Amino acid sequence: MNQARCLCSDAAMQTIQIAGRRGGFASTQRVDRWWVAPASTAVGLILFFGYLTFRAFNATYVWYDPYISPTVAPPVFTPASGYPGAVPVDHAWLGAFPAWWPAFLPQSPAFFLPALAIAFRFTCYYYRGAYYKGWFLTPPSCAVRGAPRRYLGETALLLFQNLHRYTLYGALFLLVCLWWEGMSAFFRAGRFGIGVGTVVMLMNAALLTGYTFGCHSWRHLIGGRLDCFTCEGAVSPRYRLWEGSTWLNERHMAFAWFSLIWVAFTDFYIYLVSTGTIRDLNT
Ligand code: FES
Repeated sequence: MNQARCLCSDAAMQTIQIAGRRGGFASTQRVDRWWVAPASTAVGLILFFGYLTFRAFNATYVWYDPYISPTVAPPVFTPASGYPGAVPVDHAWLGAFPAWWPAFLPQSPAFFLPALAIAFRFTCYYYRGAYYKGWFLTPPSCAVRGAPRRYLGETALLLFQNLHRYTLYGALFLLVCLWWEGMSAFFRAGRFGIGVGTVVMLMNAALLTGYTFGCHSWRHLIGGRLDCFTCEGAVSPRYRLWEGSTWLNERHMAFAWFSLIWVAFTDFYIYLVSTGTIRDLNT
């Protein structure tokens, strides 16, 4: 009896130690370099989100006919004058910024539809895990003691994370717009052709497609809530679609990073050709 009680308490103690629950912040039994992943994730997110936020507010040199930076596409309004490399007025859906636009805000098309992409990424299940670990250290990694904080789950201030399933609809709409802009980049002044910028923009749309269709909410929407795909005797097209989404979902982290980096690269490429720093090779 005594021996059984002793074994039981030993097992409980071991469980506690493996989970890194003892000691202060960042205490753990892990012997690997567990901090590399959260630290590099934190730096990477600051770099890329920082660059894209700066460019979204800056909104200069975002256009080089027929290329448009994904930081401002699709443009609802565009500055009528004073912004070098701005999107032409006739390319914006509603023309120039209206007179009522507050003077303290930059006239950036990024404040409108491209903001949907930010909402989609910020509430993404992968990014949540990444910035909870990398930025807020809650906890910084598995089996590592986190920063002391009362756990409330995604309630209170984080309630907005539940909007992810709705931001998906915005992201799907943006995808259509970005493919449209990519295909439009085959035409310069009404003539068919192709340039490096066309390939860069299409690659951007393709990577964003991979990211969006691997979304957990999309996967749930197309089949995750069904009990059976084959109950009616045949494998349904919906099942094939769900399988494709599952393949992408398993690689969601990779698509999250590649698409983020490529959005920044696409913007930077257009910035370089728009400023005349490099020449776009095209037919
Ligand atoms: S879970 Fe990442 S985009 Fe939806």
